[in-house]
Amino acid sequence: MTDSSAPQPSNQAKPTTIKTVDNGPLQIKGPAQLVDHDGNSFSTSRTIFLCRCGESSNKPFCDGTHAKIGFAASQRATPAQDDQSVQSEGLRAGSEETAAS
Ligand code: FES
Repeated sequence: MTDSSAPQPSNQAKPTTIKTVDNGPLQIKGPAQLVDHDGNSFSTSRTIFLCRCGESSNKPFCDGTHAKIGFAASQRATPAQDDQSVQSEGLRAGSEETAAS
C-alpha cells in the first residue's frame, strides 16, 4: 500500500533517522509520516520527538514529562542479522517483561 501524500525522499536526501535519546524520547529526523490508530496522518519534514516513557500528556509526542518522572532508558541497539531477528528479540523482551511482573 502506498500513500501519495507521504513525504518522499529524493535520491539525494538523507534518510530519515530514528534516534533513541538517553532517558528520553525517540527523535525522528527527516521526512516522516506518523499515522495514528484511526488512520489520521501527520506529515513532517522537521525533527519530532515521540514519547517513550508513556507519561506525556501530548501523546504520541514528548512533552518533557520524562525528565520530571526520572524515566531511565539508555540501552543500546545491537546489530541484527535481519528483520526477523529484530522482531524475535522484541517478542522475547516482551515475554520477559510479562514474566517478571
Ligand atoms: S519521553 Fe518525553 S514525555 Fe515521555
